Amino acid sequence: MENVILVTGGAGFIGSNFILQRMELDPASIVNLDTLTYAGNLHNLAAIANEQRYEFVQGDIADRQLVRHLLNRRKPRAIVHLAAESHVDRSIRGPDDFIRTNVGGTFALLEEVRAYWRGLADQDRKNFRLLHVSTDEVFGSLDSEDPAFSETTAYAPNSPYAASKAASDHLVRAYHHTYGLPVLTTNCSNNYGRFQFPEKLIPLMVLNARDGKPLPVYGDGQNVRDWLYVEDHCEAIATVLDRGRVGETYNIGGGNEKRNIEIVETICDTVDEMAGRRGPSRRQLITFVRDRPGHDRRYAMDARKIERELGWRPRETFESGIRKTVRWYLENADWVRDVTSGSYRQWIATHYSS
Ligand code: NAD
Ligand code: TYD
Repeated sequence: MENVILVTGGAGFIGSNFILQRMELDPASIVNLDTLTYAGNLHNLAAIANEQRYEFVQGDIADRQLVRHLLNRRKPRAIVHLAAESHVDRSIRGPDDFIRTNVGGTFALLEEVRAYWRGLADQDRKNFRLLHVSTDEVFGSLDSEDPAFSETTAYAPNSPYAASKAASDHLVRAYHHTYGLPVLTTNCSNNYGRFQFPEKLIPLMVLNARDGKPLPVYGDGQNVRDWLYVEDHCEAIATVLDRGRVGETYNIGGGNEKRNIEIVETICDTVDEMAGRRGPSRRQLITFVRDRPGHDRRYAMDARKIERELGWRPRETFESGIRKTVRWYLENADWVRDVTSGSYRQWIATHYSS
């Protein structure tokens, strides 16, 4: 077995941050399997595209033959499974792709990985790991007084996205209990940082604020999310992969519970400061719009297990992380232009007009 990590969905937001971080800090070779949906962007990985230790393979995790050949050719010691459809609003408008990739794709991957793993030599079989990246959304919604989600909180997914991720988590768990596949699962809170596709809250608001467009806040803006800086998340994934206990799940959070309206106001003030302002505060652009159906009220993660067992905790404060993020979007207009293609503009037009 080679010192190779196979990353699925490595051209997406978290995947590309993870690959760039690992290429810098880890001697392992990285194979990136990504089908390049609207959310996948190889420009994120331009800095390492020609490195010997990196290989990109365009393909679907549900393509079993392709996955089988790739596993047998590259013989990875670990798989970090990030490939998914990831946007709640899109799952509400069209759940099919979510079931196909998140459930069917994960199942196909598990089947091929199981066959590959069974064929490994004893020591390699022992050392092999599949790390499945999941979300806090599988636990449902909290009231303001409820304790944060822990690893033993019962699953109660509320959106098609959350249900598809919950299903994939259950499959991963079952492959460990039934077949002994050495899996790890991480459930993390909302990530933010560079390379996030601008349909998600933070980049959407930064770019609309930059351009003087309305800032569409769903419902009353009082929904709470726990924000995790993407590079902290990537370090957590690497930590669990190296030292996590097989078969366990680890919650990962940023310890930053914020109401959506607070986030949007902070973005307005930061863009005013960094991009300068000619007219009134960008807070004037905030527009309350119709709520998302079934909108979960609050997510919060209890991340004490990963801290206690593995010594991980986030380095970034929200104040410093959001400044870095806003600056990145303002300074990378080319990247933004690149991803806000025809299909992106169509999504924004359809979603926010109804
Ligand atoms: P993303 O949408 O930015 O990227 C997903 C990537 O997967 C894209 O590059 C896409 O091309 C690829 N992909 C989609 N379907 C595929 C398929 N069938 N085969 C191969 N590749 C495919 O998502 P992200 O925000 O980077 O999230 C990565 C993972 O982390 C997902 O599993 C998501 O559920 C989970 N997660 C994300 C967050 C967050 O805040 N972004 C929070 C919790 C969990
Ligand atoms: P999002 O980034 O879609 O992540 P998730 O729904 O997975 O938590 O949204 C974060 C929060 O921001 C969520 O409560 C919905 C809200 N939101 C808005 O108010 N307006 C928007 O335009 C978007 C995209 C999200």
